[in-house]
Amino acid sequence: MILKGKKIILGISGGIAAYKTPQLVRLLKKAGAEVRVALTASGSRFVSELSLATVSGEPVFREMFPPLDLPGTDFTRHISLGEWADALVIAPATANTIAKLAAGLCDDMLTACFITLRPGKPVLIFPAMDGQMYRSGSLQRNIALLTGQGCTVIEPENGDLASGQCGTGRMPEPDVIAQRIGMALQNATPDSPLRGRRVVVTAGPTREKIDGVRFISNYSSGKMGFALAEAARERGAEVTLITGPVHLDTPVGVERLDVENACEMYEAAKSLYGLCTVFIAAAAVADYRPELVLEGKLKKNSSHLQLNLIRNPDILAEFGTGKRPDQLAVGFALETGDGLEEAYRKLQEKNLDLVAFNTFDRKTSGFEVDTNVLTLIDRNHTETVLPLMQKKDAARQLLDCIEQLMHSGR
Ligand code: C5P
Repeated sequence: MILKGKKIILGISGGIAAYKTPQLVRLLKKAGAEVRVALTASGSRFVSELSLATVSGEPVFREMFPPLDLPGTDFTRHISLGEWADALVIAPATANTIAKLAAGLCDDMLTACFITLRPGKPVLIFPAMDGQMYRSGSLQRNIALLTGQGCTVIEPENGDLASGQCGTGRMPEPDVIAQRIGMALQNATPDSPLRGRRVVVTAGPTREKIDGVRFISNYSSGKMGFALAEAARERGAEVTLITGPVHLDTPVGVERLDVENACEMYEAAKSLYGLCTVFIAAAAVADYRPELVLEGKLKKNSSHLQLNLIRNPDILAEFGTGKRPDQLAVGFALETGDGLEEAYRKLQEKNLDLVAFNTFDRKTSGFEVDTNVLTLIDRNHTETVLPLMQKKDAARQLLDCIEQLMHSGR
């Protein structure tokens, strides 16, 4: 959402990772950004100008000096391009380009944009090179200079390098770069009341052990909780995500605590009750756990087996009923049928500020799937009925509601 309508210059210098940049341009465009590419001469050896012009829908900027014979030529484009942008992203950034930026040289469009960018506009630099080059004293000195100037320099990733070695030097994948751009733009737009506030999100299922090899659990994938954590982070919140066992990548910039069962989730959450402004319980916590956990593997000796289950702590209810006036409690009410009344009951009993009611059909809403159909009910009993949408979009709508509640005070 934050990328929508934003004007981004993508500076590409001459590293092998440049081959990934058309994909990055596509992602940024898909998110609604306008992208113009400043390509260095070496960069053009690794990625084609035609590919970049095609995916960006704009001419690629290479030469400082414009062609003189084209009508409508902007003769001061080395200035106007930098002034146009909301953000400058340099990916991949070579040791040579980083040295030029640090020294203030501006002999091509990429380096000129850096100098002419308006103050306060984010600059993200993604160094990508051989591990030995990355560790060199000169490069590290130049990075320190640029960081000191307010640029965000993102450490390259570890892995196989084009040199055949394995080490630190890989450019992050385009989706990670796009997320980092979103975060930087969000931080440069101080509008959300969530900015700088701690948001705790619980996500995923819990596993309650029966014996050494078996457990009781549910179909929760964690997708809704992870989407909420990501959306809160996008708005500048400090996010802690407490998650049961899931197969999802941690959203960039989010602190993640992995737990297995409800009691562990409760302990992790309890330690953050006092610190957070918003507590969002999206986890499908098992209500009961086996009273006794057998060591080793339970034998099948009889035709019937009785398991004694005891109640797990209600993590959200404990936060909700004990919260301070400046804190907000948000929960989910997942029902298999028409359970709006149940949602109202949870709002009341757990002392929630917002409850998201959803049904469970395993096709469009509830567990596992990427979409959800939510009805949001706030503490004033205002109902917002959302249509079927991606969980990421539903997460943003839910955060809009939280922001409104924060704005309206208590
Ligand atoms: O009471 P019920 O389990 O239906 O409530 C669902 C809401 O409460 C969800 O937000 C869920 O994350 C939270 N919850 C919890 N701890 C539990 C059970 C549910 O935080 N033990």
